[in-house]
Parts: sequence; structure tokens; C-alpha cells
Amino acid sequence: MWLKRYQIVRRVVQCRYLSLFSYDSNGNVQPENRPHLYTTPIFYVNAAPHIGHVYTAVLADAQHRYSALSGKKSSLSTGTDEHGFKIQQTAIHLDSNPSELCLRVSQQFRMLFDAIGISYTDFIRTTETRHTQAVVHFWKTLEEKKYIYKGTYKGWYCASDEAFLSEEQTVERPDPSGNRIRVSIESGHQVHWMSEENYMFRLSAFRPKLLTWLQTNPIHPVSFQQIVYQWLEEELQDLSVSRQSSRVSWGIPVPSDSSQTIYVWLDALVNYLTVAKYPDLKYAPWGPSIHFLGKDILRFHAIYWPAFLMAADLPPPVKLFVHSHWTCQGVKMSKSLQNVVDPTECIKQYTRDGLRYFLLRNGSPERDCDFNHNSVCKLLNSTLADALGGLLNRCTAQAINPLQCWPHYQCLNIPPSAQDQLQTLLGALRGLPEKVDQFMNNFQVYKALEAIDVCVRLSNAFFQSQAPWKLHSGKEEEKAWGQSVLYLSLEALRLYATLLQPAVPGIAKVILDRLGVDNTHRILKGSHFFTATEGKNCCFQGQKLGPNCGLLYHRLEDKDQHN
Ligand code: MSP
Repeated sequence: MWLKRYQIVRRVVQCRYLSLFSYDSNGNVQPENRPHLYTTPIFYVNAAPHIGHVYTAVLADAQHRYSALSGKKSSLSTGTDEHGFKIQQTAIHLDSNPSELCLRVSQQFRMLFDAIGISYTDFIRTTETRHTQAVVHFWKTLEEKKYIYKGTYKGWYCASDEAFLSEEQTVERPDPSGNRIRVSIESGHQVHWMSEENYMFRLSAFRPKLLTWLQTNPIHPVSFQQIVYQWLEEELQDLSVSRQSSRVSWGIPVPSDSSQTIYVWLDALVNYLTVAKYPDLKYAPWGPSIHFLGKDILRFHAIYWPAFLMAADLPPPVKLFVHSHWTCQGVKMSKSLQNVVDPTECIKQYTRDGLRYFLLRNGSPERDCDFNHNSVCKLLNSTLADALGGLLNRCTAQAINPLQCWPHYQCLNIPPSAQDQLQTLLGALRGLPEKVDQFMNNFQVYKALEAIDVCVRLSNAFFQSQAPWKLHSGKEEEKAWGQSVLYLSLEALRLYATLLQPAVPGIAKVILDRLGVDNTHRILKGSHFFTATEGKNCCFQGQKLGPNCGLLYHRLEDKDQHN
């Protein structure tokens, strides 16, 4: 009776709250009307954070900040994945207890993310009570809907990846001592044969629905969607979703059977629901979710996760944004190879924004990228120090801008020799916000940064060729043109800094402060650029610049130059 009453109340509450949202003709909630939830994966606490972890977080952060810049509401969640065999073993190995290990490493992640400027709205730890409640509720829902049953799992298990693998996903190889071992083809980690009575999830029932979901093109870049299609060419096997607690005790017990612990990936994936306040009915169904993840965890997010959600009658993710890996001298970073790059050291060396810029600009979704000091120096010196810093320095220098203000643009005094270059520059600058918007909507932040950089270089070339400093002492028309060149360069800088805020918020702020741009003019929505060139008013003309900020970005020492 209680169950029935609960179900009626649940339906009434759901209906009441659903009426806040709009529906399509099939009665489905329209996701566009709800704030987007951007998420990073939650990070294992068995080792300290490295540059690869920071990359996923910075990517998601840039997208979340861009959404605010464009006047849209969104939230960003991140956190730590604290249960499972791996953590249990690491704690034993360190002669520590799992709670202490989780707290210590979770704090390291949190402090690092604060230092690198991840503007998360929620930081979740899977050992929190709110999360246990969400997982237990989710499990019971799957059970109620008969998607969970007791069975025997027989197959290969990879403890390092906490993943089940089919025969075809493994291969035999010699280990360093020449013994033949079986490993996962994808990760190279050793697998072991397992035969255990577990609870199983009816994953096999979801193949058709997953294929339908894929038709909405949820996975970016498309090459990763093709991989998922390939996986779905074959029937799916049901998935074991628990472990005997005698082997894995560090986890959430199965609600009605404490001899079993819930599989860490089911536990971990539900974190996205926990941060969306599941199972609180007034938030049901959860809002549109955009997950950022590395390619190594694609199967969990593109097959298991949408299937779990569909089984619980919840909407599958709207988008999965997948990226490739950072390598160190061509080799994937890993704790066991001791080749991980420490992000805290990098922040000290390159500054917070320097590191963000390098990762966002050089990281690519489709191919692995190498992290090395020379590439960092080359990129940051040429972009942030020389091109952007140089432009700011030139248009605000006392010698060129003695009044320290925004001059007026005077369109009647354009020298014929400058006409073509001016039109090219203005064309590029006017089109830039839309270009950046398209790239950001396709999760191509590296292309957005490249497009901004191209324009910064055009601005520098224009400034150099028009040489406004030479025009100060010339005829009246020359002086006026010199002022216009200065105005155009300052306005271009205002545009670049506005667009750069999601990627390098600190550097963008320094520029906007120096230009004297107030907070109301720092968002994209409703902002207009280059209006003076169309004969319209531009509120910055005649306005004072902000205080001098010194060098925008100090050139880094390129070790190669000394060799
Ligand atoms: N705990 C799981 C995720 C659960 S999400 C419900 C996990 N954790 S992880 O700490 O191993 O990895 C977290 C993220 O870091 C993943 O997106 C992974 O791809 C990313 N990276 C780990 N090493 C990386 C590189 N070397 N380069 C880029 N990203 C990499 O998986």
C-alpha cells in the first residue's frame, strides 16, 4: 500500500513540476529550456592529479564559462570517484585506510582545480551520503523495473580499469619477465578470469534504443560516435553490476543484499544524477547533460550510462564530448611509468592562464598530444607574450597614447593605401564572434583560440603597417588617421579579451581592466563591436584607459636556446 501511495505522490509531484517545462508533440520535455549541466568525469583517488585530469576539467570549464558569457545559464560539476577495488588496494598498499586516502587525494584535486580556476558549481565525492542515497534509489528503481537479476558472471576482469572484457577485447602478451599474461587490448592492463555470482543488468535489452539515441548525434567528435556504432554492431552482453563484498568491501552495499557491493562504475556514473539533485522529485527528470570525458572511458559513458538512464526512464545524455590523451615524449602518462606531468609545478612555471591556454589550444579531441616544455614555451611566447601582449603594450604605451584614453574614430580620413587592409581586418573582426560561437558550439575550443590568434596577428600587422606613432606630428588628416588606427586596435583588443574570458579569465581581465571596460560590457550577449566604424556611437570613445598593468605575459625561457 505504501508503495502504491508513494507512486501516486511521485506522479503528482512529477506532473506539477513538469508543467514548468515545455514539451514536444510526444510529451517529451524540451531540453533546451533547462540550464545545461556540464560535467567532468569524477577522478580516481588512487593517485595524485596529473595534467591529463586537468585537461578534461579545463575543457569543461571553458565551455561552462562560455555559456555564461553568452547569457545562458549552466552548471558545472566535478569531483572524485572514491569507491572500488582499486582504491581499497591502494589504501592497503599505502598502509592507510580508504577514508583517509579518499579525503587526502580528494582535497588535492579540489585545491588544484581551485588553483587552475575551474568554476565548478558542485564538487561531489562518491563517499558522501547524498550520493549513497541517489545510488540506492537508482538501484531500487532498476530492480523495480526488472532490469536487475541475479546470475553468474564468467569472464575477464581488468582491476586497473575496473572493467569487464570479452575474449576479443583481450590478448596474450609476455610481461617484462617473459611470463605470458592476458591484457586488455585497449589499456594494456592485466586481466584475470572471474567467475562469481553477481547481480546482472539487462544491458542486452538496450541495443535498439541505444542505436536510436545515436541518431541524435550525441557524440563529438563524430569519429568516436563511429566507434560506438561499431561496438553496437554485435549483440550486447548483460553487465555484472555487483561484486562479492568479501572481495570488494569498499563501496555501497546492494540495498537488500549486503553480501554484494555495487559495481564502482554504476556507482560513479550516478554522480551526474546526484549533482542534479536526484532523487528529489521536484528536479525530475534531470536536465540536459553534457559530459566531458577522455577516450578511455567512452564505453562506460556511451553504452552503460545511457542504458542505465533509459532503464530508469530518465533522458539519456544530450552530448558526450570526447577527447584524446596527453603523452609525455610520445608515451601515455601513467603513474606506473612515472612519467606524469605535475600540474602544480606547471602552474608555477607557466602561470595558471599560461597552462590553461596551452592545454586548450594544443589539446585536440582526435589525436594524442605531447606535453613538453619546448612546445609550451614556443606557443606561449608567440601568442600570449608577443602577439597579444605586444598589441596591448603598443596601444596603451605612453609614447603612442600620451592621453591614456580611447581616441575617436574618424572615418573620413582613411588613406587610400590603407583601404584594402582595413576592409580585410574589419571583415575578419566582425565575423570573429560568430566564428568563435560556431566553434564553441561544436566543442572546438582549440579552433576558437586559433581563430582569435589569427585576428590578433592581423591587428598587429595593421598597426605595424599604419605606424600611428609616425602620424602624431603629421598633417591633421594624418593625425586623425593615427587616432583611428589606435581606436581600432583598442576595440580589437576589447573583442579579443571578451572572447578569451572562458579560456584565460585572468589574462582577459588584465586586458579589460587596462582598457577601462566596466563589468556590464564584459559579456557577449548584447555587446556590439566596431560600431564607430559604421558611423554609430561607441561609448568607449574619449573614455580613459585603466591603470597600467605591466607586462601581460612574461616570455618564458626556452631551454633549447641555451644549448
Ligand atoms: N573514475 C573514472 C571516471 C568516472 S566518471 C563517472 C576515471 N577516472 S580517472 O581519474 O582515471 O580519469 C579521469 C579523466 O582523466 C578521464 O576522462 C580520463 O580520460 C582523463 N585522463 C586520464 N589520463 C589522461 C591523459 N594522459 N590525457 C588526457 N586525459 C586523460 O576514469
